[in-house]
Amino acid sequence: MKRFDGKIAVVTGAGGTLCSKIAIELSLEGVLVYLVGRTEEKLVRTAEKIKEMGGVPAKIFACDVTDRESISALAEQVEAAGGCDFLINGAGGNNAKAMPTITKFDPRELTDQLPEGQKGLYDIDMDAFESVLKINTMGTIIPTMEFARQMIKKGGGSVINFASMNTYCPLTRCFAYAMSKAAVSNLTQSFAAYYAPANVRINAIAPGFMVNERSKAYLGTVEEGLTLRGQQVIDHTPMGRFGEAADLMGCVKWLLDSDASGFVTGITVPVDGGFLTLGGV
Ligand SMILES: NC(=O)c1ccc[n+]([C@@H]2O[C@H](COP(=O)([O-])OP(=O)(O)OC[C@H]3O[C@@H](n4cnc5c(N)ncnc54)[C@H](OP(=O)(O)O)[C@@H]3O)[C@@H](O)[C@H]2O)c1
Repeated sequence: MKRFDGKIAVVTGAGGTLCSKIAIELSLEGVLVYLVGRTEEKLVRTAEKIKEMGGVPAKIFACDVTDRESISALAEQVEAAGGCDFLINGAGGNNAKAMPTITKFDPRELTDQLPEGQKGLYDIDMDAFESVLKINTMGTIIPTMEFARQMIKKGGGSVINFASMNTYCPLTRCFAYAMSKAAVSNLTQSFAAYYAPANVRINAIAPGFMVNERSKAYLGTVEEGLTLRGQQVIDHTPMGRFGEAADLMGCVKWLLDSDASGFVTGITVPVDGGFLTLGGV
């Protein structure tokens, strides 16, 4: 018997760095996983890895998680297969167009006189700003409401949301991302309280700085050299390294397993190498 034999999970962001790993590990634990994201090729890559590694063959469903109709169409398929037990709300992220390049107000941004290539708060793309808010918040709320219906019918279930270090204290330049990840943690609490009578547990993980394709570009790597921001992160992380997707797995399995965490709901668990233990001074 595997730990989660016969369970069904929906994993959003399953073509990405962290949730592809989560999807693979769950499939190896006996879970039928629905891989969700906008780009089909990325989902196919995850499904192929699952096949190579001998996990339960996964299903692919390419869609935008903020689109209610698509999520209802997915829910019909999942319901027909037996209904959702676990939901991992991993789809999310930031957008460079929603960020300034400078960290503090500069009067020159009001008169378009910042040096070439620099962007202040007044120069950011407000549509991109709104899309970051939407993916991190509505992209968590819509799947949760839809799949909680199935968990309720099955007598319970577990949802894991993705918060961030920005949930606790915003990093510079990340306005939309930081406020939306703070909202994820707050929503985790309010939804946890709401769904508790139905035995649907809602928790969140707040990863520290984990290696992904984008982080390599803006933080660098310990092995090949860090950017200034990368060095600041490492200096602020007592364990002295970036995290890997594998670092999340113990926490994911614990939060999904009702024998291990059946009385745990509404929490956000930092998995951060100690980042939150330091005040920065
Ligand atoms: N890596 C870190 O250091 C870190 C730290 C804290 C929190 N997090 C959070 O952890 C989660 C996973 O991060 P990650 O590092 O694995 O990021 P990632 O590699 O960029 O994966 C995120 C995935 O989400 C999908 N996605 C984005 N918007 C979507 C939408 N509207 N509908 C459907 N899918 C969408 C993307 O695929 P498509 O573009 O194909 O849709 C992408 O594959 C995110 O919520 C992120 O904010 C990451």
